[in-house]
Amino acid sequence: MSLQRLLRVRAPTRQFLRSSVGPSRLRWSSGVSYPLQLASVTPQHAALYKESLVNPARFWGDLARSKLHWMEDFTQTMDCDMSGDRLKWFLGGKINVSVNLLDRHVETDPTKVALIWERDEPEDHQIITYQELLDETCRLGNLLKRDGVRKGDRVAIYMPVSPVAVAAMLACARIGAVHNVVFAGFSAESLRARIIDGGVSVVMTADEGVRGGRGIPLKSVVDDAVEGVESVRRVFVATRTGSKVNMDPVRDVPLEQAMSSESRVCPPEALDSEDSLFMLYTSGSTGRPKGLVHTQAGYLLYAALTQQYAFDYHPERGDVFACVADIGWITGHSYVVYGPLCNGGTTVLFESVPTYPNPGRYWEMVERLKVTHFYTAPTAIRMLLKFGDSWVSKYDRSSLRTLGCVGEPLNDEAWLWYNNVVGEDRCTVVDTWWQTETGGIMISPRPSPDDSTPKPGLPMTPFFGIEPALVSPETGRVLEGPNVSGHLCIQRPWPGMARTIHGDHDKFINTYYRPYPGLYFSGDGARRDAEGHYQITGRVDDVINVKGHRIGTAELESCVDQNESIAETAVVGYPHDTFGEAIYAFMVPMEGVAVDEEELVADIQASIRKKIGSFAVPQRYLIVPGLPKTRSGKIMRRILKKISADQPEELGDTSTLADPAVVQLILTKHSDKYVS
Ligand code: WTA
Repeated sequence: MSLQRLLRVRAPTRQFLRSSVGPSRLRWSSGVSYPLQLASVTPQHAALYKESLVNPARFWGDLARSKLHWMEDFTQTMDCDMSGDRLKWFLGGKINVSVNLLDRHVETDPTKVALIWERDEPEDHQIITYQELLDETCRLGNLLKRDGVRKGDRVAIYMPVSPVAVAAMLACARIGAVHNVVFAGFSAESLRARIIDGGVSVVMTADEGVRGGRGIPLKSVVDDAVEGVESVRRVFVATRTGSKVNMDPVRDVPLEQAMSSESRVCPPEALDSEDSLFMLYTSGSTGRPKGLVHTQAGYLLYAALTQQYAFDYHPERGDVFACVADIGWITGHSYVVYGPLCNGGTTVLFESVPTYPNPGRYWEMVERLKVTHFYTAPTAIRMLLKFGDSWVSKYDRSSLRTLGCVGEPLNDEAWLWYNNVVGEDRCTVVDTWWQTETGGIMISPRPSPDDSTPKPGLPMTPFFGIEPALVSPETGRVLEGPNVSGHLCIQRPWPGMARTIHGDHDKFINTYYRPYPGLYFSGDGARRDAEGHYQITGRVDDVINVKGHRIGTAELESCVDQNESIAETAVVGYPHDTFGEAIYAFMVPMEGVAVDEEELVADIQASIRKKIGSFAVPQRYLIVPGLPKTRSGKIMRRILKKISADQPEELGDTSTLADPAVVQLILTKHSDKYVS
């Protein structure tokens, strides 16, 4: 079947944007465009998926022209190889992401609700229209420009989930600055590291955050983070709670006050498709967190398409999309901000926590806001199911149609509760696999090639244009056919792929493209079944996934090792009922040092809170006489993982270790402490 027949083809419509854009800056694409209207989920997706692989340049090119507004048409859809060095999309095109998210929707309906801010305070939401969000974005863009922020400059955003934080992201996009959002739960030292590594000149924050009724002193964290950091010349401080904070008379500026005198019109910068849009730090298996870089057009197209098709999202029907992730993570970037707003939808900004003021919070919100699409992490589902069904059933959830999940494997029990109790067995459960690096959803039950009914864990199918490969770690060969497990790689480029690691392109190549030449390596394992569906089995590297947050063992170990009484540490993840994985620290004390375990653990916890953030504090600790190592000195984490998962029978051959006796000692200590 031809692409034209699969996609309903409309005549191109010419639209002109509002005065804020400045007509002289806009030149509409002179190339032939085929605005595509992909129908919602249909069995035709199998043919469409095939088409996306057979003729990717045409597939993505057509979608980019119909889905996005260009200031100048691109001349080439893609120029990529899978060595990681040439990853370019929509070459020669000029675009402004904020125009795509705001101006064009304001043109059709300025009163349409863009954001619903579900504040921490229970039953208290605020509505922000597309016009209001555009006005705020322009004011902020003008303020940043007046302050000397130029195209390519990095701006750190350390703010609560709030409309002003979204406006800050989009203001950067409007003027071509690169935002670097740091989750407002990270400590001062983590924030400082991200500011220094990113070469940030301006920080945007708030006086305080509030989560679960508790204040979080954001401004004072920023004060500690930027102390002595010369690159930072300005800190803008928004008001969230109105609490008193220290203001440096030269560096710090109250945000709302400064914005109020700025114009609501800010001409959008015409940016190259491949100019950076944002950087976002994520943990890997080695060293410090890395700042992954995403660029303008490809990321935007991919976030918007996946939001529309993986979730079957219809803004024209008034769908309300509630992705409850924090904007400090990629899920918040793609499915709170960029995807839904590019599609002209209504997106919920969830500032609170799932159990505040009680475990019915999400479902009360669903009833009040008439949420149609709900997207969360398995850990939240597992936590809520423990509180019982009545917290869910007392609220009307008839508005819900799609229930999404991301971040870690969704176990059967959680899937069934989500589907049967929350979704009353009439919603579609969409478990989505993707990563900070991929920009958007890669594998999910929708769009489905065969329209089969999703069941726990399966079927997971690749999105348009995505061709997964499972590779044998032993031979490095791609495993063909059904019923195989291996390292999950991606064989061909897609528009949402990260382009580099800020300041360290070699690391980018080494991490993602060198392990299996010609493929993108995800760091996850997966299985393919007889029907070609995928099931994700978890990380295959030294990354622990706690409550859907990625934490590198190397980061944690270096943090624990800094304790004076500790000679050496190994940190591993072990299965946890609610968190998915929890963290276990095995610590070897310095020779001749008598340690008080309680004191030591308290010290270590305090230092992890300070250096990384509370979410990275290990759940279990064991003082051990030594670590299992190979003769060449490499720590055998595999053995520690088996011990911590209470699977001593699966330890395998330990005789090749430098000191096999140490395993028995660790096992005994572990059993005494943690096995009842
Ligand atoms: C894990 C979050 C199983 C995986 C968007 C991946 C998942 C890491 C799933 C990325 C899923 C994400 N099933 N595991 N549906 N989705 N993961 O960068 O290990 O914060 O590599 O991006 O989360 O986490 P990140």
